Amino acid sequence: MRLCYNTLMSKVYVITGSTSGIGKALLEEYSKENTVFAGYRNENLKPEGRNIIPFYIDYTKPETIKPAIDFIKSKTDRIDTIINAAGCVVAGVIDNISLQDLKRQFDVNVFGAIELTGGLDVKKIINISSMSSFGIYPFIAPYCASKRALDILFNLWGLESGKQVISLKLGAVATPIWSKSIKENEKSLSDVSGYEKEYDYLVKNALKNETKGMPVSKIVKKVIEIDNKQKPKPSYTIGFDAKAAELFSHLPQTLINHVIENKLKSMRKD
Ligand SMILES: NC(=O)c1ccc[n+]([C@@H]2O[C@H](COP(=O)([O-])OP(=O)(O)OC[C@H]3O[C@@H](n4cnc5c(N)ncnc54)[C@H](OP(=O)(O)O)[C@@H]3O)[C@@H](O)[C@H]2O)c1
Repeated sequence: MRLCYNTLMSKVYVITGSTSGIGKALLEEYSKENTVFAGYRNENLKPEGRNIIPFYIDYTKPETIKPAIDFIKSKTDRIDTIINAAGCVVAGVIDNISLQDLKRQFDVNVFGAIELTGGLDVKKIINISSMSSFGIYPFIAPYCASKRALDILFNLWGLESGKQVISLKLGAVATPIWSKSIKENEKSLSDVSGYEKEYDYLVKNALKNETKGMPVSKIVKKVIEIDNKQKPKPSYTIGFDAKAAELFSHLPQTLINHVIENKLKSMRKD
C-alpha cells in the first residue's frame, strides 16, 4: 500500500542505523507523529511499531542498497528528510589496518549514504557526522577520514544540486558504537605491539564515552530543533568536546601535529 498524502498531515522520514544509539532514539521520537522508513541490517533487530516501515540495508553489502531504494519508492513519492545515522568505526594502528577494512569504513560511512540518498528524491539531508571530521584523532584515522569525506561530498553536492544538506558534527555520545568497534576490529587491534599504552588509552577512553558521553536524548532534541528551522545552517558542532576539536583544527597543521605528538608521548610515559 502506498502512503496517501491527502490525509497525511505528518512528514515522511528515512532514518538509517535505526536499530541502536542515536538512530534508534530518533526513530522512537519521529515515529510518534510521522511516517518513518527505518533502516536495519540485523533481522533480529528489525524495528516495528506504529508509523514505522522497516527496510533492510547493509552497507557492507552494496547489493542491498538498490532494493532498499526500490522498496521505499514503491511506498512513497514524498520524503521530507533523510537522516543518515548508520555508521561504524574502523580503529587501530594504520599499519595494521587492511585495505579491506579501510574500504569497509568508507562503504558504511560514506558510499552507502551517498548511494541511498542519491537514489531517493529527498528535500532535506541530515548527516550524523562527528568531531572526528576535524581529523585530529590518531588510531581512528579511517573513521576521521570517512567523516571528513562524508562532509565534503555532501556539502558540495548540496551546493551543486540545491538540496538542503546539514552536517551534525557530534562530540562523544553515550552509545554502544565504541564497544562494537572493539569487537568489529579484533584483527587490527590484536596486533598492537609497540603501541600497547596507546591502545589501552584508546580502549579506556572509548568505553568511558559510552557512559560519560552526551545522552542520545540531547542529540534527538538538537536534531528536531535543527530540522524545524526555516533556514538551518549547513553545519552544527554539538558538544563541548566537539567545539574544542573544531577550534583546535583551525590551528596551523605544524602546531596541531606538535600537540598530538606530545599527547602521544605522554601516553607512552604513563
Ligand atoms: N556515539 C558517538 O560518540 C558518536 C559521536 C559522533 C558521531 N557519531 C555517529 O553517530 C552515528 C550513529 O552512531 P551511534 O553512536 O548511535 O552508534 P550505534 O549505536 O552503534 O548505531 C549505529 C547504527 O548503524 C548501524 N550500522 C552499522 N553498520 C552498518 C552497516 N554496515 N549497514 C547498515 N547499518 C549499519 C547499526 O546497526 P546494528 O544495530 O545492527 O549494529 C546501528 O543501527 C554514526 O554515524 C556515528 O559515526 C557517534
